[in-house]
Amino acid sequence: MKKVFITRKIDDRVIHELKQHFSVEVWPHEDKPVPREELLRQAKTAHALMTMLSDKVDAELFNHAPELKIVANLAVGYDNIDVKEATERGVTISNTPDVLTGTTADLTFSLLMAVARRIVEASEYIKNGEWQSWSPYLLAGSDIHHKTIGIIGMGSIGEAVAKRAKGFDMDVLYHTRSRKREAEEAFGAKHVSLDDLLSQSDFVVCLAPLTAETKGMLSTEQFAKMQKGAFLINAGRGPVVDENALFAALQNGEIAGAGLDVFENEPISKDHPLLSLPNVVAAPHIGSASRATRYTMMELCAENITNVLNGKDAVTAVRA
Ligand code: DGY
Repeated sequence: MKKVFITRKIDDRVIHELKQHFSVEVWPHEDKPVPREELLRQAKTAHALMTMLSDKVDAELFNHAPELKIVANLAVGYDNIDVKEATERGVTISNTPDVLTGTTADLTFSLLMAVARRIVEASEYIKNGEWQSWSPYLLAGSDIHHKTIGIIGMGSIGEAVAKRAKGFDMDVLYHTRSRKREAEEAFGAKHVSLDDLLSQSDFVVCLAPLTAETKGMLSTEQFAKMQKGAFLINAGRGPVVDENALFAALQNGEIAGAGLDVFENEPISKDHPLLSLPNVVAAPHIGSASRATRYTMMELCAENITNVLNGKDAVTAVRA
């Protein structure tokens, strides 16, 4: 029987389904990543791996895995995987696009709203017993409606964010390698240079994937181009933003606030200076984390594994 190794405790229903056809081993913890040695040990006899974005899938792992046919990553992003190396070795890599688009766009927009309207600060204020009276500027924040949103990385999640923005009567700018005519027609989105996006947006929303070109693309120079009252939302990948530069920009009042779902190092340390700022709303990489969507993502991974181990194509294979 072919062997599937799953690097985190996932939904029992999906494990049960896979067990009908394969021998399945699961790292038994939901909240602790599989140690590297255990992953390499399991990979030795595995025909398929279901991995998380916290697992590094590289040449060393492939060297340990002579039987490996597919790595199904439980995420749309796959910067944790050396896809080129996999392709050279004939290992299929799959991800989970589309099924998480709406959920991740919801979270992205929630961060935008939370930081602009100071929702987390407001909640803490009440819970700490600080509310003495109504007052005109109490926790006054920034408007969202009729403002300008600039989306960096206009993939399907970017388009879904643009759709939400349109419902708030926002003007939509975007910066991406190739133009998205459908988004232009549907949401009046305007394709602009990065500099124009930074200088014209009230909300800069970063959804760019992590690549050699995007690493550190938002740094001191870019924050200096943003408006003083503008906000940065990052729900793509942490290393696209230079966190030291972001901290400096926030502290010096060069920008008004940040909503962050992703970080340079995850999990971010609770002592990280960014987390000490009241105008930072932080979430632990939960973009696609609704119960329904995570289940659908797991099912899609299982389908990709089943297909490939039965000699068929993965439904959502990634190309190098
Ligand atoms: C992904 O799927 O890449 C997201 O970052 C998960 O929330």
